[in-house]
Amino acid sequence: MVYYTELGFYNTKVMFKHAYQKGFAVPAYNFNNMEQLQAILTACVLTQSPVILQVSKGARQYANQTLLRYLAKGAVEFAKELAAKNGLSEIPIALHLDHGDSFELAKDCIENGFSSVMIDGSHLPYEENVAITKKVVEFAHQYDVTVEGELGVLAGVEEHVVSDKTIYTDPDQAVDFVEKTGVDSLAIAIGTSHGAYKFKVKPGEEIPPLRLDILEKVKEKLPGFPIVLHGASSVPQEYVEMINKYGGKLESPAGVREDQIIAAAKSAVCKVNVDTDSRLAMTAAIRKVFWEKPEEFDPRKYLGPAREEMIKLYSYKNEKVLLSAGKAPDIIKELKGLQ
Ligand code: G3H
Ligand code: 13P
Ligand code: ZN
Repeated sequence: MVYYTELGFYNTKVMFKHAYQKGFAVPAYNFNNMEQLQAILTACVLTQSPVILQVSKGARQYANQTLLRYLAKGAVEFAKELAAKNGLSEIPIALHLDHGDSFELAKDCIENGFSSVMIDGSHLPYEENVAITKKVVEFAHQYDVTVEGELGVLAGVEEHVVSDKTIYTDPDQAVDFVEKTGVDSLAIAIGTSHGAYKFKVKPGEEIPPLRLDILEKVKEKLPGFPIVLHGASSVPQEYVEMINKYGGKLESPAGVREDQIIAAAKSAVCKVNVDTDSRLAMTAAIRKVFWEKPEEFDPRKYLGPAREEMIKLYSYKNEKVLLSAGKAPDIIKELKGLQ
């Protein structure tokens, strides 16, 4: 057993308390490789934002779980060094399993240094979702690992779920779910979905808003309880244009409106998941190098610009959308006081 504190991570409890009280959301950024990890930490240290490093089942298979754990441990040290070099505060970092689909996977992550896990039973019949979530919570809480559950189904393709229809979260059922399972946070369905094609809009048409009314009902019924928003990429059109200009082919992708994410972050949403936007930034920058310098074959010459583009993206999100910039010092002070 490798306990997450040995690696320098924190669970999400104190981060979410601050996020709820101060009206911001903690960024949860997915990573699969070193450049993404470097970009996430550089942006979060320099903007002084707390961060949740998010690993999907697919990422764990892609990067190898042992290597990933050491990469994440290295990331904590890297972040400390970068903060010290710039005369800045340390930032709180959580290592989180994204869309865990079994008790065994969640248990394995908990035993390998994760400070937070998601068990996603949203596709299961309600009572089965309750049962598997409760089982993970009971195990995780023995180690002070925080657990995220999900209720409602996001349209689109989730790692293990394909659905063409959003099933919005029922606020009354959310209350029952939280009471029965003991989860620490809950992902809800209010109109977001995974990937780059979240909405079908014709040119010139406005992207529809989220069902923030459902979020407000959940907040009313579960005051103080942290809510999570998946599928929250905004699919910046500048990256779509860049990708298509330099030989890519993305046909009318559309993401969540930023004003909607800002409103959610100011309300009960304490964690916002972003993966697609980082993929777009990385792809756009790499395509540009390949297009403009076809003679280039040193990976550092295209992964370096990709990393720079991701740093810009994450910094912008922290500062302008999630409003998490500058929130790290107070959180770390409280966490160190508890140690
Ligand atoms: O929720 C999905 C995340 O974007 C992770 O994607 O399963 O392809 O790693 P992935
Ligand atoms: P996006 O596809 O909108 O980036 O969502 C990522 C996500 O929810 C990861 O769990
Ligand atoms: Zn997700």
